[in-house]
Amino acid sequence: MNVLVTGGAGYIGSHAVKALIEAGHRVTVVDNLDRGHKRAVHEKATLEPVDLRQTGELTTVLQRDAIECVMHFAALAYVGESVDHPLRYYDNNATGSLSLLRAMHAAGVRRMVFSSTCATYGIPEQMPIVETMPQQPINPYGWSKLFVERMLADVAAADPGFGFTALRYFNVAGCAADGTIGEDHDPETHLIPVMLEAALGKRDVITIFGEDYPTPDGTCIRDYIHVEDLVEAHILAMNALHDGDARFYNLGIGRGYSVREMIEAAKAVTGVDFKVEIGPRRPGDPPELYANADRIRQDLGFTPRYTDIRHIIETAWNWFKAHPKGYEKE
Ligand code: UFG
Repeated sequence: MNVLVTGGAGYIGSHAVKALIEAGHRVTVVDNLDRGHKRAVHEKATLEPVDLRQTGELTTVLQRDAIECVMHFAALAYVGESVDHPLRYYDNNATGSLSLLRAMHAAGVRRMVFSSTCATYGIPEQMPIVETMPQQPINPYGWSKLFVERMLADVAAADPGFGFTALRYFNVAGCAADGTIGEDHDPETHLIPVMLEAALGKRDVITIFGEDYPTPDGTCIRDYIHVEDLVEAHILAMNALHDGDARFYNLGIGRGYSVREMIEAAKAVTGVDFKVEIGPRRPGDPPELYANADRIRQDLGFTPRYTDIRHIIETAWNWFKAHPKGYEKE
C-alpha cells in the first residue's frame, strides 16, 4: 500500500516507517522537523519537510504519491507544555489535523490510523480503562487529541466511504530491537529515558514524582507498551480498515507497573545503582492508568510480544548506550 506517515521523523513515527517498509509498503513521510530527526527516517522513505498546516502542499503530496492510507502521528506530546502553551497544542495538534483532513478530502484519501491517547480519559473512575468510559481530559494535550477523534467521527459519519481507527496509546516505551533507531527527545522527561540517562551518568539523580499516591507502593502506575508492538497494531489496524469504519482502541499491554517497579527493573537491566530521590507530585499525573486491551485483541488479533518490562527497558538501554547523544543535532 502507499502510506503517508505524518511525524515520521519522530520517535513513534520513525518506528512505524521502518515497520511499514519492512512489510513491503511504500512510505512517504511528512514532518516539519521541528522536533523530529532526519536521521530517524528510513532511507527507503520519501521525506517531505512539510508542516501539516500547509494544506495545499499536503494535497499535492497525497496526490503525487497516490496515497491510500494516512498514519497520523505528527503532534506535540508534552502534557506540561500543553498546560503552559495551550494554543500551541490546539494549533499544532487540532488545526494541523483539520488541515490534514482537508487535504485528504481534496485528494480523495479516505483511510486513517490516528495516534490518540489515554490522556483523553482524564482521571478515570475505575481501572482498567475500557474504551466506553467517559472521555474528560484534564489538560490541553488530551483535549487536542479528543477534538481530532471527534473530527474523524464526524467525517466518517458524513462520508460512508471514509474509514478510520483511533488508537489510544498508553505509555509507549523501548526502541527498535535491532538498535537502528530510538528515542531522542529534547527536553527528555519520560521515565525510562530519564532513568537510562542517570545510568549513563548524564544525570546525577532521578526524582520520583510523589510517593503518597493511593497505590500499593505509593508511586504512580502506568501501562508500558513496546514501540514495535505499538506500530504492529497500526499495521493490523490499517489492514483491517473498511468503508464506514469508526474504530477506537486502547493500546497498552493491560498491566501496570509502578515507578518504583520501573526503577528496580532499570537498575537490574543496566547494572547501575543510580541515585533516586523523592520529590513532590507532578501536576496532572493520575495515580493509575492501565488499559483493558480486550477490544483490540478480539477485533484485530493484536497480542503484544513484549510483556516483561525488563525486555522493554533492555531495547531502550541498547539504544542509549550506543547513542548517548541521541541522533545529534544536524
Ligand atoms: N516519573 C517520575 N520521574 C520522572 C519522570 C516520570 O517519577 O523523572 C513518573 C511520572 O510521574 C509518571 C510515570 O513516571 O507517573 C511515567 O511518566 P512519563 O513522563 O514517562 O509518562 P506519562 O505517563 O506522564 O505520559 C504518558 C505519555 C503522554 C500521555 C500520558 C497519558 O508520554 O504523551 O502518558 O497520561 F499523554
